[in-house]
Amino acid sequence: MRKVAFITGASSGIGYELALELARQGYVLALTARRETLLDELAEKVKSIGTDALSITCDVSDQQQVRKAIEETVAHFKRIDLAILSAGISEPTVAEDFSAADFEKLLRTNLLGVSYCLEELVQIMVRQRDGVIAAISSLAADRGVPGSAGYCATKAALSSLFEGMRVDLKRFGVRLVTIEPGYVRTPMTASFGNMPLVMEADASARLILRRIESGDRVIRFPLPASILMKLMRVLPVTLFDLIVARRRPVKLRSK
Ligand SMILES: NC(=O)c1ccc[n+]([C@@H]2O[C@H](COP(=O)([O-])OP(=O)(O)OC[C@H]3O[C@@H](n4cnc5c(N)ncnc54)[C@H](OP(=O)(O)O)[C@@H]3O)[C@@H](O)[C@H]2O)c1
Repeated sequence: MRKVAFITGASSGIGYELALELARQGYVLALTARRETLLDELAEKVKSIGTDALSITCDVSDQQQVRKAIEETVAHFKRIDLAILSAGISEPTVAEDFSAADFEKLLRTNLLGVSYCLEELVQIMVRQRDGVIAAISSLAADRGVPGSAGYCATKAALSSLFEGMRVDLKRFGVRLVTIEPGYVRTPMTASFGNMPLVMEADASARLILRRIESGDRVIRFPLPASILMKLMRVLPVTLFDLIVARRRPVKLRSK
């Protein structure tokens, strides 16, 4: 029997490359995101590789849509062996003009979106006594980076949520995997400029799947960036502030 993978954020970037790689490995796929045309094109590509794909339009910030997407997947494929939760957005946080509404948007997609998936997936996989749920957090979860504080906060919360739940769910046969990439070249980072130690999305997807396959529970890459961020984490506040301090233009919202 072919294994079933459910993917959020399949229309672009890391999620897209993971979908193709999983198809090559023989998985059947439930592909989800908001952009229907991109999903349909990907589903055709997956089918041309020789496996099956269902494309489901779903906004992860809407719990009803997430519930329906997962129900549709199980109705069609009967089970879910692997869930890849890649849907996410990255937007700058201008501290001088902090907007709770902007932060809420980040939270709804990057954190609550994952939690809506978890509510459904955990029930299914605990019943199966088997399954892997892998969410894409970030090395940015390690410390609040100036200019991206809101994004970092959503990823820090996601990594903590997975860390605690991972231990609880192990005895039910369900493995939670936290994926914490450094810079990966995707549409999300297209406007970022200089990205030290950047990886390509297809290479990242292959690395992620190799490490999921080998049983890893936390996947951080690339190694030098991972070590650097770990060191940043233990830096005393004074030193951290000095290193990351930089002036950025104030961009005020029009009220
Ligand atoms: N690229 C990096 O350097 C990097 C580093 C660390 C972590 N990450 C994380 O990796 C994940 C994938 O990022 P990426 O670089 O591949 O970015 P990307 O190319 O922009 O892809 C983001 C994906 O998320 C989907 N998405 C966004 N909002 C959504 C919503 N409300 N509902 C459903 N789907 C939504 C998008 O699809 P639609 O627009 O079609 O909905 C798209 O498929 C994100 O969680 C990101 O935070 C990326």
